Parts: sequence; C-alpha cells; structure tokens
Amino acid sequence: MERKTKRWINLWQILICYLSLSACTSKDQIRYEQFVITGGQLYQQHCANCHGESGQGLRELYPALTESKKLEDLNYLTCIIRKGGDKMPANKELYDLDIAQISTFLKYRWAKDKTITETEDVSKIQCAN
Ligand code: HEC
Repeated sequence: MERKTKRWINLWQILICYLSLSACTSKDQIRYEQFVITGGQLYQQHCANCHGESGQGLRELYPALTESKKLEDLNYLTCIIRKGGDKMPANKELYDLDIAQISTFLKYRWAKDKTITETEDVSKIQCAN
C-alpha cells in the first residue's frame, strides 16, 4: 500500500475512535440525567410529603435532607427506604431501580455528589429483618 494512503487510514481510525468515545460519554451523561430527573419525580411522589419539596423537612417532626450526611450512605438510605425507620414508613412498592434513581437524585441535589447509583449496587444490599 502507498504510504500516503496508509497515513489516511490511520487518521480515519483515530477519528472514528474519538467519535465513538465521545458518543459513549454522552450516552452515560444522558443516562445520568434520566436518573436525576426520574429520581426527582419519585422523590416528589414518595418523600416530599414529609421531607419537603426542597428537602427542608418539617421542624422536629421530619428531618431536613439538605444537610444530611446519610445521603451518601447507600446502605443506610436503601434500608430506610425499603424498611422505614422509627417513624418513617416503609416503601414496599419501590423497586431497586427506583431506589437507585432516588439515591442519584438525592446525591446530586443535596450531597453534590454527581455520580450515578447503579441498580446492582442497591440490589446487593441486605437489610435487617
Ligand atoms: C411519613 C413521613 C416520611 C416519608 C413519606 C419519608 N420519610 Fe424519610 N424520614 C421520616 C422520619 C420521621 C425520619 C427520621 C427517622 C425516623 O424516625 O424514622 C426520616 C429519616 C430519613 C432519612 C435520614 C435523615 C437523617 O439525616 O437522619 C433519610 C435519608 C430519609 N428519611 C429519606 C427518605 C426518602 C428518600 C423518602 C422517600 C422514598 C422518605 N424519606 C420518605 C419521615 C418520612
């Protein structure tokens, strides 16, 4: 093969590689954004009654989530959502995907941790009783 042609092929390979990489990144970004949005909707449906639309809580009755250190503790969060707490009710209707999306939203909104919570990581968690 001619040297010039060879060089062009190399250039194309680099370009294709680059394009598919950036496509990959934006696919993850889209998935992340979907988790945040759906998680936010689930939060409004299942959590906002007590913890408030802006996570402000309600005096001594319901803790605010805006300053909560528990949002990044996936074990704790998963189990309080699934099983409830002393006063917080259990959410038996929520799937692990829903919990992953809620967790992603909570971290994004109040923990400023912009990482996705994967459903598999929620599924691995065993809660007492
Ligand atoms: C009926 C009211 C109510 C609802 C609905 C509710 N919670 Fe709670 N939540 C509470 C109460 C009360 C506590 C304090 C612990 C306890 O007494 O159970 C709490 C505690 C928490 C905590 C721990 C906060 C901390 O810093 O200690 C987190 C996180 C939390 N809830 C998340 C959620 C999420 C996510 C949802 C929706 C899936 C939700 N809660 C729905 C009442 C509620």
